[in-house]
Amino acid sequence: MKKGRFIVLEGLDGSGKGTQADLLIEEMKRQGRNVYLTAEPTASSTGGMLRDALGGFVSRDAYELSAMFLLDRIFHNANPKNGIRQYIENGIDVVCDRYYYSSFAYQGIDADLKWVMDMNLNCPEILKPDLCIFLDISPEAGEKRIADNRLDREIYENAQAQKRIRARFYEVFELLKDSENIKIVDASRTVQEVSADIIKIYNQLKEN
Ligand code: TYD
Repeated sequence: MKKGRFIVLEGLDGSGKGTQADLLIEEMKRQGRNVYLTAEPTASSTGGMLRDALGGFVSRDAYELSAMFLLDRIFHNANPKNGIRQYIENGIDVVCDRYYYSSFAYQGIDADLKWVMDMNLNCPEILKPDLCIFLDISPEAGEKRIADNRLDREIYENAQAQKRIRARFYEVFELLKDSENIKIVDASRTVQEVSADIIKIYNQLKEN
């Protein structure tokens, strides 16, 4: 049986990943693909602990957060009920809102980047995506979208952190340019323009 495709959407907070994931999936289904939408942090108990930390209700350092995201990601790949691996091996495509690139960019601003990258990239349980699409917006534009849509702010949702995280994303994409399939899309345009670009990139993925 042909394996499913594994596609990740990444971006700063407020970059429109959720909306774009929905539009991409609509198009993939229109093309006859079977698609499963998922996100990190997951709905696991580790995901719950992460949400407490992201919400600022519990204080965790960047190394604890990195390890917790790693644990959540291993569960996300390997759990027998709705793990990513199960879907891919059964020929179902997976679209995931955030993945290890977020750990590199977000935890990598305070924890040692190489350590965070090594433990994710060298873990045999953690699948490598076929494609990562980065929705690029300026930290200022993201800030505006967050301010318009949210009442509460998570620990990384401030202009200073977002600026450092965006720089980290670019640094990481440069480090990974020969080993991963990463495409950057200008997400400051209209929803339709951004979606058209994402679909174009998706259509360039080779049949596997
Ligand atoms: P987000 O996509 O903003 O979810 P929601 O809109 O439901 O809040 O992701 C939650 C936060 O988690 C976001 O600020 C980025 C952060 N994050 C990390 O710091 N490291 C990671 O490895 C992942 C997957 C997410």
